[in-house]
Amino acid sequence: MSGIGGNLRIDAERLWASIMETAAIGATEKGGIRRLTLTDLDRAVRDWFVARCTEAGCSISVDELGNIAARRPGRDNSLPPIAIGSHLDTQPTGGKFDGVIGVLAGLEVLRTLNDAGYQTHAPIEVIDWTNEEGSRFAPAMLASGVFAGAFDRDYAYSRTDREGLSFGAELERIGYRGDEICGARRLGAFFELHIEQGPILEAEGKTIGIVTGVQGMRWYEVTVTGMECHAGSTPMHLRADALVAAARMIGAVQAVGLAHAPDAVATVGLVEVRPNSRNVIPGEVFFTIDLRHPDDAVLAAMEAALRERLEAAAREDGVAMALTRIWDSPSVHFDAGCIEAVEDAARTLGFGARRMVSGAGHDAAYIARVAPTTMVFVPCEKGISHNEAEKSEPGDIAAGADVLLRAVLATDER
Ligand code: GLV
Ligand code: MN
Ligand code: MN
Ligand code: MN
Repeated sequence: MSGIGGNLRIDAERLWASIMETAAIGATEKGGIRRLTLTDLDRAVRDWFVARCTEAGCSISVDELGNIAARRPGRDNSLPPIAIGSHLDTQPTGGKFDGVIGVLAGLEVLRTLNDAGYQTHAPIEVIDWTNEEGSRFAPAMLASGVFAGAFDRDYAYSRTDREGLSFGAELERIGYRGDEICGARRLGAFFELHIEQGPILEAEGKTIGIVTGVQGMRWYEVTVTGMECHAGSTPMHLRADALVAAARMIGAVQAVGLAHAPDAVATVGLVEVRPNSRNVIPGEVFFTIDLRHPDDAVLAAMEAALRERLEAAAREDGVAMALTRIWDSPSVHFDAGCIEAVEDAARTLGFGARRMVSGAGHDAAYIARVAPTTMVFVPCEKGISHNEAEKSEPGDIAAGADVLLRAVLATDER
């Protein structure tokens, strides 16, 4: 890359200050963030983001899924924008970095371009995608999924949380249901900076992960139905205990993961027991399953094994079992040109880097269907994420943002 763009660097302190400012919105006692999608706290961080982008001279558009795009014009505004983004929502016990750094690094890129008076050919957009986490409204990556045509709008609106509140109503309530049709806009390219959420970069002493794709993910919901009965007077051999059966099923989920290790992972993360009273034999258990593998064929085989094992467990324990797959996000391969732009940027800036596949889901996985896309990873301590203790070094995040800036400018100059 020639010219001024080659020497531009983001302001590491300003970026860190933005991260710490947003970390106060929904801060938890243990140093993390609880900022579930479409809550008042989500509205507060969105308002913050819109205000900062407006101050940076951007125009703001909000689509019907609540995705916020802040646009810095280029020389030729008929060109599709080069977009940078991620998500501002968090897990119930999330950290300060998951998602947030990808949005705020985008803001930092805009501020850096402003300070330098640098004009891009294409407009640059920074996007906050709604409901990436999927912990309140399943599935994850819901609004980037609508943008990419993986789901339709009304399906997204109809998703409910565990209290029965709908995505559509909550979006409306926080005032972020926009007019723009979701997915109507074309993107010239999409780049997402994120913490790795795994231990590889740290273990290898590398600063930058060049992300070549995302593994396949499937989500399921299971309801086990037995018979609610008195814990004192019902003999052991005459029970249909839904929780005992579910416990066996959870063991089977782990076994399916282990059978395809080390690449496979299988998790039960949410369990609800009804009536959840200490002297009532559980009559119903609801639980979720998250299966992942980089190879879609193996993932399909894992699902077949899972079904078989859960049905067998239900038969043995004399309970009914309903297993529903609610999400299938196939493995993704990112764009070769974008990957090269990130690799070149890391090399030119002198950062240790390696290619890797993402184990976590990201909005980029869906956006890759409609625009040339890739991601930049930076290390996080011990690979710990989806945890309030999540930690990432300011210098590493700044390095990732510089790589992002350079990859974006190189793409713009192409
Ligand atoms: C989203 O955070 C996922 O990878 O599950
Ligand atoms: Mn994330
Ligand atoms: Mn996450
Ligand atoms: Mn994620």
